[in-house]
Amino acid sequence: MLGCPNYQLLSLVLILLLTTVDPSSQESRVKSAVFLSPAFVLEPGSVSNKFYYNISFPKGHIAIKNFDAEVVDEGGNPVPLYETYLHHWIVVRYYHRKGVEVTKFHDDLGFHQSDFIVKRNSGICDRGLPQYFGLGSETRKTITYVPDPYGIEIGNPVEVPPGYEEKWLLNIHAIDTRGAEDRLGCTECRCDLYNVTKDEHDRVIEPDYIGGLRCCYDETRCRVKDGFQGSKRSLYLKYTVKYIDWDPSIVPVKIYILDITDTWKKPEKSTAAVARHHCQIEYLVESCSSAVANVDCTHTKKIIVTFPSGGDVIYGVAHQHTGGTGMALHGEDGRVICSSLPIYGEGKEPGNEAGYIVGMSTCYPRPGSIKISEGETVTLLSNYSNAQRHTGVMGLFYLLVAEPSPKPNSILHSTDETGEIVILQNAIGALAAVFGIALLVGAAVIYQRRNQRDQEGYESILM
Ligand SMILES: *[C@@H]1O[C@H](CO)[C@@H](O)[C@H](O)[C@H]1NC(C)=O
Ligand SMILES: *[C@@H]1O[C@H](CO)[C@@H](O)[C@H](O)[C@H]1NC(C)=O
Ligand SMILES: *[C@@H]1O[C@H](CO)[C@@H](O)[C@H](O)[C@H]1NC(C)=O
Repeated sequence: MLGCPNYQLLSLVLILLLTTVDPSSQESRVKSAVFLSPAFVLEPGSVSNKFYYNISFPKGHIAIKNFDAEVVDEGGNPVPLYETYLHHWIVVRYYHRKGVEVTKFHDDLGFHQSDFIVKRNSGICDRGLPQYFGLGSETRKTITYVPDPYGIEIGNPVEVPPGYEEKWLLNIHAIDTRGAEDRLGCTECRCDLYNVTKDEHDRVIEPDYIGGLRCCYDETRCRVKDGFQGSKRSLYLKYTVKYIDWDPSIVPVKIYILDITDTWKKPEKSTAAVARHHCQIEYLVESCSSAVANVDCTHTKKIIVTFPSGGDVIYGVAHQHTGGTGMALHGEDGRVICSSLPIYGEGKEPGNEAGYIVGMSTCYPRPGSIKISEGETVTLLSNYSNAQRHTGVMGLFYLLVAEPSPKPNSILHSTDETGEIVILQNAIGALAAVFGIALLVGAAVIYQRRNQRDQEGYESILM
């Protein structure tokens, strides 16, 4: 920062805005909103994979702290996975041109019309996986809480392009497996059970594509036992969003989603064209009887990618399908950044359905204790049991990372032995309110672990 002409002014502003935030103070400000998606109608064997635009969502400049969901019926009762398998739901942020009608889009997320701009998460796939939130069968028992003082910042008016508004879309993919001849086969979208030879876009499905999303698109039907009767019913995704109004003490986190099927390869020459993160999203796990030399019947898939930008890991969770036995993300030095294991249900009640992944364990590193450095080479591992074949499986890793601010007038510095975190961040809103104009000036926030308060002051701020 030396040599910055605004240094003195900035220092003054920083001193004025230095605030000690007690983590508990965020709790009392948390608001909660419960919404229902539009109804989707299912009958035994049927699939619904729809995209709902302009869904109900909390308004204003806020920080999301929690995003929970579950499938319920018309009476609001939770529906178990063995009746309605929740393959996935994703929530995508987008900017919509004001005054333009939302026509009924029904396709995947590949569209790019000028009236509609997807605001993707921070990476790392080139296409696909743009979501801010999203899970599958594990929805009910996966913790999504973003710890204080962090939050997922949304609704900041200065980020929205002029003439547009921020909106949210929801994609829900659900499969009704009541009376299914082969429940697991239906949830794994095995093409033979869906009796499809062409995908949604009328492209012929190659014979070596045994199962996956290309075979269980919207309005397809999985084979049901002869004579099975089951009612047609309307279902909803009920989602609960917890949030707090934005203020400069909240530290924004970036969302990254790594995909085990990413074909990225480190360019051999530094002059080579930038390698693409081509994410396939799904893969096939062959059974160990047909795989070579896999004695314990564990299928391990591994990729190595460089992480685009660094920061403190605040939260991590994996997404796997039935058969999954865990994922881990390792740093360049081999340290475990986060490992996330499936929780399998053992009973009948919703949230504990036997044989299904009903939750994934999550990582909450002590803030500052687990960092990824910019450009660090990380290794992602996804394990599945291959005692039997699994089609259309996934291995995603969702990370929340608090990054140093890109603005030249602010920095993020964190950790010392006492676990203190000192954070400088941009405070656009607060200063705009003070000066009446939108100044980009750094504001500083000191977050101290409650029990370590008063041990050290502001001296670890580095300018
Ligand atoms: C979005 O939905 C709200 C009601 O939830 C409605 O008032 C508004 O007109 C919709 N916007 C667009 C662009 O369709
Ligand atoms: C499968 O599809 C073919 C043609 O697409 C149709 O003739 C056949 O009856 C279907 N089989 C079943 C069991 O639905
Ligand atoms: C994945 O499997 C490998 C080989 O069996 C094992 O060494 C590793 O610990 C497993 N990792 C996770 C996260 O389950």
